[in-house]
Amino acid sequence: MTIVIAIDGPAAAGKGTLGARLAQHYGLAKLDTGLLYRATGVKVLAAGGNPEDPVAAEAAARALDPAELANPALRGDAAAQAASKVSAIPGVRAALLDFQREFAKNPPVLADGSPAQGAILDGRDIGTTVCPHADAKLFVTASTEVRAERRFKELQERGHEAIYARVLEDMKERDARDSGRSASPLAAADDAYMLDTSALNADQAFQAAVAFISSKNLF
Ligand code: C5P
Repeated sequence: MTIVIAIDGPAAAGKGTLGARLAQHYGLAKLDTGLLYRATGVKVLAAGGNPEDPVAAEAAARALDPAELANPALRGDAAAQAASKVSAIPGVRAALLDFQREFAKNPPVLADGSPAQGAILDGRDIGTTVCPHADAKLFVTASTEVRAERRFKELQERGHEAIYARVLEDMKERDARDSGRSASPLAAADDAYMLDTSALNADQAFQAAVAFISSKNLF
């Protein structure tokens, strides 16, 4: 049996950074499940389709090739908005479910060629739907303003033009769509450890997560 850690939370709460550090620390393979939805959204846009069209979006999700997850365009805000639209479509979520569960069950070998101890998946519904039996679940949050500020800085560092007010607006729009949809909305599992990173730096968030995971005696 491999160990599964689920990390959920809204955009820019610090899930990605935290997940990468925990994966490194515990020797786990990591899957950023947001990339699956981003790649699906981008595939629909590239074909000239509408990400809100259930038929086009589900077909794109079914045709997804894991090699497409490396596309740098997936990091941009157009991809994020398209992801948030396709992800509300139940057929898209169903199409991506098997891939995520298979990753959790049979994690790929690590970059250095050593076998993984388990898997860490980050997303919106990992602890509630994808891996409800995960060994440890974390729900990472931060205030909307702190998350918008982080995303704004990240966009600037990558050389993208960004206006804070616009980033904040997009963040609120995406939060509302992710939390309000009927198919697997963003939600904390009852047994998730709530980690608010509003006033924490990456090191402090990591320490808090390690303290929680240690309490589970998994490693
Ligand atoms: O995490 P990230 O910002 O890359 O996710 C992009 C979008 O994909 C989210 O806004 C959400 O709508 C969707 N998503 C999801 N379920 C997941 C991961 C991401 O619905 N497990």
